[in-house]
Order: sequence, then structure tokens, then C-alpha cells
Amino acid sequence: MKIHGLTAVITGGASGMGAATGAYLAGRGARVALLDTNADALKKRTAEIGGDACAVVCDVTDAESAERAMAEAAKTVGAPQVLVNCAGIADAGRVVGRKGPLPLEAFTKVISVNLIGSFNVMRLAAAQMMQSEPLNEDGERGVVINTASVSAFDGQIGQAAYSASKGAVVAMTLPVAREFANFGIRVMAIAPGIIHTPMLSGMPAEVQESLAVQVPFPKRLGDPVEYAKLVEHIIENPMLNGEVIRMDGAIRMQAK
Ligand SMILES: NC(=O)c1ccc[n+]([C@@H]2O[C@H](COP(=O)([O-])OP(=O)(O)OC[C@H]3O[C@@H](n4cnc5c(N)ncnc54)[C@H](O)[C@@H]3O)[C@@H](O)[C@H]2O)c1
Repeated sequence: MKIHGLTAVITGGASGMGAATGAYLAGRGARVALLDTNADALKKRTAEIGGDACAVVCDVTDAESAERAMAEAAKTVGAPQVLVNCAGIADAGRVVGRKGPLPLEAFTKVISVNLIGSFNVMRLAAAQMMQSEPLNEDGERGVVINTASVSAFDGQIGQAAYSASKGAVVAMTLPVAREFANFGIRVMAIAPGIIHTPMLSGMPAEVQESLAVQVPFPKRLGDPVEYAKLVEHIIENPMLNGEVIRMDGAIRMQAK
């Protein structure tokens, strides 16, 4: 699909990779709707983008909130041809830590945002995509891009919940791509390595440095714009479907 003139919904659009993707796609002529819980940051991001960008406050874990948000986005910028799910949290904790077993709610929360949140918005976006006319000779109606993580494959100690949530995002890619194939809707996932976003910059500088030197090449943290460029390529390349792409400078994370 050619990006100019498409509508893209981006969850987690107020920060990091979601914000970078929103700005990047808008810069290539897409109308974008940014969904996030952070109303202030959303306003700032859409003001920076200008033009047709719309900000919709949405908690992706909540069915009604997402239904309302997707209806509002469709009214403002049109039904989407692209969904990029970037909303996520990275809360860590050992299964059994110094204070005893991890509270069950801590596990549930991560699954609820990263996995259920991605599914929640995907089901709604795909339903809207299915109502639209095909865009080209291939019969394409849209593409869903979910965000996994290299933690889906090489999770570290303390990442049981995060890795489980991202592993499940990886696992649903193929069955959903198969289900949507008749409608001309592709489903892809990106598994980023260590990317320089607010999620990461909360960590102490020495932790960030130690992570950066673990990347074989290039020896640095990834740039959110590099994620946005991969999104661009996935949108434009119709043969990419049902697959997970690692974007990680060849890092294979160690146990800790
Ligand atoms: N930064 C990394 O190194 C890295 C690596 C691998 C995967 N990821 C994944 O990439 C995605 C984007 O991460 P980022 O680094 O840009 O993070 P970020 O913290 O900069 O942005 C995440 C955004 O998600 C929003 N969000 C959180 N819970 C939400 C909810 N319930 N409903 C709606 N929005 C919600 C936050 O408000 C925030 O704006 C996440 O899924 C993350 O797990 C990040």
C-alpha cells in the first residue's frame, strides 16, 4: 500500500516508538490517530504533527474505552488501513522475589496491556478495515503491526510476565494473518531489541550503557525512527504477512 492518503491508528502514540511512528507516517502523507492513556503527552504529539492528526485518550485494556476511541478516530480521520500497536508496559519482577511470590496482579497487568490491549484494538480496527473497499490489485484492505520484543525469545530473569505477553503477541501473528487473509488484511509483528525511548531512559545510565555494548552491531541503542521506517516498509511490501521481524542489531539477551 502507498502510505500517502492512508489512515493509521497508533496505540501508545504519545511516547517512544508509537510517537515516532505517528510523526513519520504523517510526514509521508498519512492521516494518523494517536491513542494513549496519557492525555497531555497526546496533545503535545498531535500539536507537533499538526494537520489531520487526532488524539484520542484510550485505555487499550478496556473494551468500551477502545470501542469509543476507534469510533471517534474513524469519525475524525476515517476508518484505518493501518494499525500499529505500540501501547505497552515493561514492569519487571521475579516470580519469587525477596518479598515472596510476585503479586498475581503484577503479572495480570502486564498481560492485560501488552497482549489483551493489542488484541482488543486489533479486533476493532480489523472490523473497520473489513467494511472498506480493497485498495489495489492484490485486494489489500489493511495491515496490522503488533509490537513484540526480543524478550519473547530471550527473556531475562524478572521478565516472566513481559516475555509471556510478548511471546503471545508473536504466537497470535500467524493464526490472525490466516484468518484475515480472505479480507486482504495482513498481520505482522516487530520484535525490537533495545530502543532509546522513555521506557528505557527511566533506567540508570550505566544500565543503558551496559545494554548498548551487548548489541553486536551497531553498538548503540536503537532509534525509534528506525522502528518507524520498518513500519513504513511493512505497509509498502504486501508479501510481508504472518511473520515476526527482529529489529535488534543481532542482540541475544543474556539471563540478566
Ligand atoms: N524500548 C524498548 O527497548 C522496547 C524493546 C522491545 C519492545 N518494546 C515495546 O515497544 C512498545 C513501545 O514501547 P516504547 O519503548 O515506545 O515505550 P514508551 O513507554 O515510550 O511508550 C509506551 C506508551 O504506551 C502507553 N500506554 C501504556 N499503557 C497503556 C494503556 N493501557 N492504554 C493505552 N496506552 C498505554 C504509555 O502511556 C506510553 O505513551 C511497547 O509495547 C514495548 O513493550 C520496547
